[in-house]
Amino acid sequence: MIKNVSVFGLGKLGASMAAGMASRGLQVTGVDISQAAVDALNSGCAPVQETGLEALIKANRERLRATTDSVEAVKASDISFVIVPTPSDRRGAFELQYAKYAFKSIGEALAKKEGYHVVVLTSTVLPGATRNGLLPVLEQASGKKCGPDFGLCYSPEFIALGTVIRDFLNPDLYLIGQFDTRSGDALEDVNRSVCQKDPAVHRMTIENAEIAKIALNSFVTMKVSFANTLADICERIPGGDVDAVSDALGSDSRIGRKYLTGGMGFAGPCFPRDNVALTFLCRQIGASPDLLEANDHYNRLLAPRFVEKLAGLVAKGETVAVLGLAYKPLSHVVEESQGVFLARAFADAGLRVVGFDPLAAQGAREALRDHALIVESLDAALQDAALVVVTTPDDTFKHLTAAQLLHGKDSVTVVDFWRCLSAEVRNDPAIRYIGMGIFRPETSAAGVLEELWKD
Ligand SMILES: NC(=O)c1ccc[n+]([C@@H]2O[C@H](COP(=O)([O-])OP(=O)(O)OC[C@H]3O[C@@H](n4cnc5c(N)ncnc54)[C@H](O)[C@@H]3O)[C@@H](O)[C@H]2O)c1
Repeated sequence: MIKNVSVFGLGKLGASMAAGMASRGLQVTGVDISQAAVDALNSGCAPVQETGLEALIKANRERLRATTDSVEAVKASDISFVIVPTPSDRRGAFELQYAKYAFKSIGEALAKKEGYHVVVLTSTVLPGATRNGLLPVLEQASGKKCGPDFGLCYSPEFIALGTVIRDFLNPDLYLIGQFDTRSGDALEDVNRSVCQKDPAVHRMTIENAEIAKIALNSFVTMKVSFANTLADICERIPGGDVDAVSDALGSDSRIGRKYLTGGMGFAGPCFPRDNVALTFLCRQIGASPDLLEANDHYNRLLAPRFVEKLAGLVAKGETVAVLGLAYKPLSHVVEESQGVFLARAFADAGLRVVGFDPLAAQGAREALRDHALIVESLDAALQDAALVVVTTPDDTFKHLTAAQLLHGKDSVTVVDFWRCLSAEVRNDPAIRYIGMGIFRPETSAAGVLEELWKD
């Protein structure tokens, strides 16, 4: 049984994986090229912001240490996980330069180590990258042969920022792309000792795992876009209610309810770029990218379309408060955030935009420099707002009261993308409440429906 692991890359995913594995009794050596990340971990602090991470690091310090020295880490472990950035390039593909650098340093360490060692790539890559882009680096730097001398797997994680530790310890599935059975056995052994439940384990070729990872994310984005299409339909049909429709659809075991809540578009550091990367792959290999491209196109047009629907609710120059600028609740990440897109589109439509997010103020300030004033409190966001737009189902917003939203004014218009505000807010006569995805007379297609079915 493997007891000693090393984790290369102590970022948003790697730091939580390192702490999670230590919490399950494994001896973990973290490696990062950033001295600050290494120092943070060694002093019991979280190198990145993530729910519960610092507490988990503190609670497991005797099994968790970090270094910048790859040789030391490889020698101290039997298996190395590589979770370094694979940023998107201009074509939409994932770059390998960080992964190559990490693989080279692991290869050089393997050259100095006796005995078998397994290398696991966790970073997101496109099909073919592990075998053709990274394996040669390992073999060249180590002077050893994959198979007899060391093992190799591609094994991505399916986590969401804000719940990385929970997701890592309680996965729905393990995806193990294995170079050979021995590599896969070693990784499955570690996975089983880390996992708090008994998930499905899918072992396959490295290429099939690379396809499965990116396909899973891309499929989820299609569900999101489908739900958003339903919301758009429901707003126009008398009595329409997207939650009633999605609840029914979601009960069908072929569909499932997750990611089927019409609201805002898919966002964040993974979903949009994985979809784009799969499109790139299709084009390169001659497969049809049409479905994926349409999905990306639809998602990118959502924020401007929402603003087209909503900007007329207030006069030009009036203030709109955009509540929720991170790409999801419990996150400080604003990458591809729909709240940010919406704030920008409102500003372009001539409204004064004030933004608030419980965690993402700093990132939002950079992303919206010339478009919005980012404030530090709900109070400051709401004081001048004629229109309040809630873009994430964050608990902070769910508990807003009518008095807070009105902020002493006679009336205010509130747009609730996730239909998460309280009944008290919805029913307050001074609040013009708009739940997106719910029928509104202003967008009614009742006349069209009557015309359609006339004799
Ligand atoms: N963040 C997510 O939600 C998420 C989810 C699934 C998959 N992923 C994938 O995981 C990978 C990492 O993502 P992240 O968000 O954790 O990145 P990140 O930028 O937060 O962290 C990466 C870390 O790797 C370190 N690093 C870079 N080169 C290194 C090297 N040669 N050796 C050791 N450390 C090195 C960096 O200093 C940094 O601390 C990416 O491929 C990403 O697509 C991320």
